[in-house]
Amino acid sequence: MGIFATLHKEHILIREQLDQMTQAVGLIEENKLPPRDFFDKSLEFGRTYTNKHHHFKEEYLLFSQLAQKYEGSIDAVVEKLRNQHELGQNHLSDLSANLGGYERGESECVSKVRHHLSEFVRLMEVHIFAEDAVFFNMAKELMSQEEQDALQSGFEAYENGQGEDPTPRCKKILEEARAILESMKPQEI
Ligand SMILES: [Fe+2]
Ligand SMILES: [Fe+2]
Repeated sequence: MGIFATLHKEHILIREQLDQMTQAVGLIEENKLPPRDFFDKSLEFGRTYTNKHHHFKEEYLLFSQLAQKYEGSIDAVVEKLRNQHELGQNHLSDLSANLGGYERGESECVSKVRHHLSEFVRLMEVHIFAEDAVFFNMAKELMSQEEQDALQSGFEAYENGQGEDPTPRCKKILEEARAILESMKPQEI
């Protein structure tokens, strides 16, 4: 699989997390608070899969190679994408910091958790769309097949250096998080 197909495929799993988070926002707004366990799983997915597995390959391999080669001309685009990664992480850290109060039902913390969840989803949806529909196509045009193949080897070297492929475990985490949300739906009789 080529580098862009790999990143695109990873986006599909990340979108599943965003979909769950959107549902969680809806539940909070109905005053049905998803349990702490849901957020712990979602945050673990964010750390392990989105940040470490996916963003690392984008930032330290794809973005830096392009920025180096096209000195200056694509800096603004790359900088914007990097900033969005960082802003997303900040939302997740702030969300995590409010989970104690959320669990105790403190209204300010509940509202902050809702805010950071919905802002994270909004940001990441825009970000993933920009990568899939614009940036990856642009990068594909700019890079020769040899450069793409070399980057593919870089992706593989990074993944091998990380040890076991986190994908099956991260899929399971998402399934478990999904099951928590499903269990909150009213049971049909
Ligand atoms: Fe990204
Ligand atoms: Fe991405």
